[in-house]
Amino acid sequence: MMILVGLCLTFVHVVFVGIYFYLTRYHKYWDKRGVVTAQPVSILGTYPGLLLNKTRSFILEVQDVYDKYKNDHRAVGTFITRQPQLLILDPVLAHEILVDKFSHFRDTITSSFVSHNSDDKYVERSPFFSAGDKWKQRRTEGAGGLTPNRLKQAFTIWEKSGQKLVEYIERAIKEKGDIIETKDLAYRFTAATMGDFIWSIDAGSLSGKVGEIGIFQKTSSDWTVHAFSSMIRFNKSLVAPFVRKLCGMRFFTKESDKFFLKLTEDMVNFRQENFGEDREDYLSHLIQLQKRGNSIHDSVGHALTVYLDGYETSGALLYHMLYSLSENREEQEKLRSEILDVLPTEGTISYEQLNALPYLDQCFNESLRLTTPIGFFMRICTKPIQIDLGNEKKVDLEPGITVLIPAYQYHHDEDLYPEASGFRPERFENGAASLLNKRGCFLPFGDGPRICLGMRVGQLTVKMAIFHILSNYQVEQTKKVPMGADTGLGIFLNGDVELKYTKLQK
Ligand code: HEM
Repeated sequence: MMILVGLCLTFVHVVFVGIYFYLTRYHKYWDKRGVVTAQPVSILGTYPGLLLNKTRSFILEVQDVYDKYKNDHRAVGTFITRQPQLLILDPVLAHEILVDKFSHFRDTITSSFVSHNSDDKYVERSPFFSAGDKWKQRRTEGAGGLTPNRLKQAFTIWEKSGQKLVEYIERAIKEKGDIIETKDLAYRFTAATMGDFIWSIDAGSLSGKVGEIGIFQKTSSDWTVHAFSSMIRFNKSLVAPFVRKLCGMRFFTKESDKFFLKLTEDMVNFRQENFGEDREDYLSHLIQLQKRGNSIHDSVGHALTVYLDGYETSGALLYHMLYSLSENREEQEKLRSEILDVLPTEGTISYEQLNALPYLDQCFNESLRLTTPIGFFMRICTKPIQIDLGNEKKVDLEPGITVLIPAYQYHHDEDLYPEASGFRPERFENGAASLLNKRGCFLPFGDGPRICLGMRVGQLTVKMAIFHILSNYQVEQTKKVPMGADTGLGIFLNGDVELKYTKLQK
């Protein structure tokens, strides 16, 4: 018996020592290269919240390190679970990595997430999740459907959605009162607009009964909830990437894959049988790509790439922007007066006019800064490079080492943005956004060759909704909502966003 107990204890001991060795094996990596290491380093790396995010969000843990080291260092050594990672504290260095030295940091950590499950075939087709030459090919294909020219041609889709949005608000006020849960409203708008642009369907989210959630919106919402919780699970799996294959981890569910495949097949066939290709939208772009050899699965992959951020990220930004405007009435009035000044009698606006409203652009940029829907980028070093850490110190990065660019932290840094927690659109006056972007301080869409592919789409969608809402309603806050909902990529308002909509007397 004693021998058995002894053997068991030895076994447990060996297992624990093994795990400890596995987790801490590389923890001297930065010391050995003379790079300052962020302290404290725990057995779970620099950010235990990544693995235990019930207690602490990853972004808030990055904040602690950023605040502690940013004044004295351009970058600091950290450990993302057990793997060495360089946290870039100096925005100028971030700009170099994203833009000038892009060929040394071509791939993203997300592109290493999906190579394990060939069945997860649609996420694997998104440039966001692709590496190397496949990334380039998918990005080029996708970009062809999102050119300014095509968006201009498809502009009536946004215009029609904007009008439907106002009609929906009108009905909601009549039937349920003037306080409207604005997260729901924002996603209804993005579902309707993207449904029409990508698949040429009426999603029903604005045209159906008030408060009713149809099959398209329900599937979209379940799909994004799963995709974002997957982001958290995949980030956690950085500690032992082999579990992804072992557990067959997927980003998208089989059910949503089936739903979107059927939808794409039906709409491609319908368009080909009924309309030819006379409507310039994303569906016509997908059909053109299929004629050049793409499969229907490639089309679903591209469609879902646009839909993921066109529905979710743009929707999230929209309700945050409305919340900020409801809290900052002076800014709301100023924006409304700019909008009403250009509003022609028939109530519509052109693509060019919408893009040329300076204060709308400033409010949009300020909302992007405050929200930062994608709060950080992790790039993989793909070609050896020497990084200048300042104070006459340099470090050689080898392929496989990752760097973290903390856009959320730059956007909330008091030294870069005085009164950083306030909504101050004036800071983006006179084209400041592009200047701040060149200095690496303003990265809401990233930068360089991997800059957001749908930047113009997101911009158009959010601006159009704001344009229609503010030209018809005054928007007031009814209660404060704390920030704190962590999606794995950013931190969002935590709870219902109930705003009061009062019709303007015209
Ligand atoms: C306001 C809404 C949006 C925000 C704030 C946003 C933000 C971002 C950010 C920060 C990145 C990472 C860039 C980097 O790693 O340097 C990104 C990448 C990407 N975004 Fe967006 N995005 C938005 C809307 C959209 C839309 C509507 C689409 C689709 C039409 C889209 C498609 C993509 C794709 C495909 C990538 C990956 C690009 C690549 O790796 O080559 N995004 N986005």
